[in-house]
Amino acid sequence: MAELDSLHDDILRQIKDATTLDALEQIRVGVLGRNGQLTAHLKGLGALAPDERKARGAALNQLRDAVEGALGAAKQHHERAALDKRLAEERIDVTLPVRADNDGRIHPISQTTDELIAIFGEMDFTVAEGPHIEDDFYNFTALNIPPEHPARQEHDTFYLTPRAADGSRKVLRTHTSPVQIRTMQKQKPPIRIIVPGRTFRSDHDATHSPMFHQVEGLVIDKKVHMGHLKGCLIEFCRTFFDIDDLPVRFRPSYFPFTEPSAEVDIGCSREGGGLKIGAGADWLEILGCGMVHPKVLAAGGIDPTEYQGFAFGMGIERIAMLKYGIPDLRTFYESDLRWLKHYGFVPLDQPSLVSGAR
Ligand code: PHE
Repeated sequence: MAELDSLHDDILRQIKDATTLDALEQIRVGVLGRNGQLTAHLKGLGALAPDERKARGAALNQLRDAVEGALGAAKQHHERAALDKRLAEERIDVTLPVRADNDGRIHPISQTTDELIAIFGEMDFTVAEGPHIEDDFYNFTALNIPPEHPARQEHDTFYLTPRAADGSRKVLRTHTSPVQIRTMQKQKPPIRIIVPGRTFRSDHDATHSPMFHQVEGLVIDKKVHMGHLKGCLIEFCRTFFDIDDLPVRFRPSYFPFTEPSAEVDIGCSREGGGLKIGAGADWLEILGCGMVHPKVLAAGGIDPTEYQGFAFGMGIERIAMLKYGIPDLRTFYESDLRWLKHYGFVPLDQPSLVSGAR
C-alpha cells in the first residue's frame, strides 16, 4: 500500500509538471496504456489470494480514478491556455476608419440584394443560383406554363438558335422561377431558398428593361401552408420598408406554377401627387406568390402527396425604386457616376440590417 501511495504521488507530480498536451499524453500511456505501470499492477491482481485481491483491487481502482481525474483536469487547463494564447495573438483591429477619400459607391441593385439576403437570411433562407441561359423545360414546361401563355411568345422572350432535335430552343430566362425546379431536383426537402438574379424580357420603357433583376423565394416542407406564406411575406414587407404597421394585402391572382396564387399589395398614399409608402387610401402591387402547384413539385421530382410549399417572386429594381425614391428604371444601367453618387451607398456605412439608408 505504501508503494501505491508513492506511485500516486509520483504520477500526480508528473502531471503537475507537464507543460504540453503531448507530455500529458505520454504520461497517460506510461501509466494507463497497455504496458503502463498501473496496468501492470492491475494484471498482477489475478495471482493474489481473494482477500488481498479485493483490498488491493479497490486501492488500484481509486488510484486509477485519481490519475484519470488529474489528467482530464490538466488537459482542460492546457487546452484553455492554448486557446487564450491564440485568441490573444490572432486578435485583429477592425476599427480602422474608412478612407475619407473613398469615392466608391455600392449600386442600389447590389445594396437591395444584400438587404434581401440579410432579411431572408434571418428567416433561415439560403441563396441559390441558376444559369441565365435556360432550357425550355426549366423556364416553362416544368413550371406548368402552357404553350399559349404570353411569356412563351416570340416577341416577349429572347430565344437562342438553333433549335434542339426536339424543336425546343434555349431562352434567356424570363424569371428566376426555373431555379425552383433546379433546386428541387438536387436538394431534398425541407427547402428554404431565395434566388436573386438577372432575368430577361423583350420590354423597354420607363418601368421595364430588357434585363432586370428578380428575387425568387421557395419553401417546401411537409406542413407548409398559406399561413406561412402570408406571415413570411408580411414580415418581409414591413422589415424591408422599415414600417412596422405597413398595410399588406393579398389579392387573388393567377400564375400557372402556383395554386392558389396571389399578388401582394402594400399600403400607400398618393395625396398631393407624390407617392408615400405606408398607411393611406391606395395600394401598390409589389410581388407575386402562391402555393407551389402539385404539377411543379412533381416536375421537380418531389412527391406532391407528401410535400407542399409556397413560392414568391418580385422585381429587385421595382422595390429598390420604391424604397429609395428612384423615378426611372433605365437610369440603373446608364453607369452615370453622378447618378451613382446620388443614389449609391457608401461602403461600410450601413447603419442597420434593414435600413441601408444614409
Ligand atoms: N415568376 C413570376 C413572374 O416573373 C413571379 C412569381 C414567382 C409568382 C413565384 C409566383 C410565385 O412574374
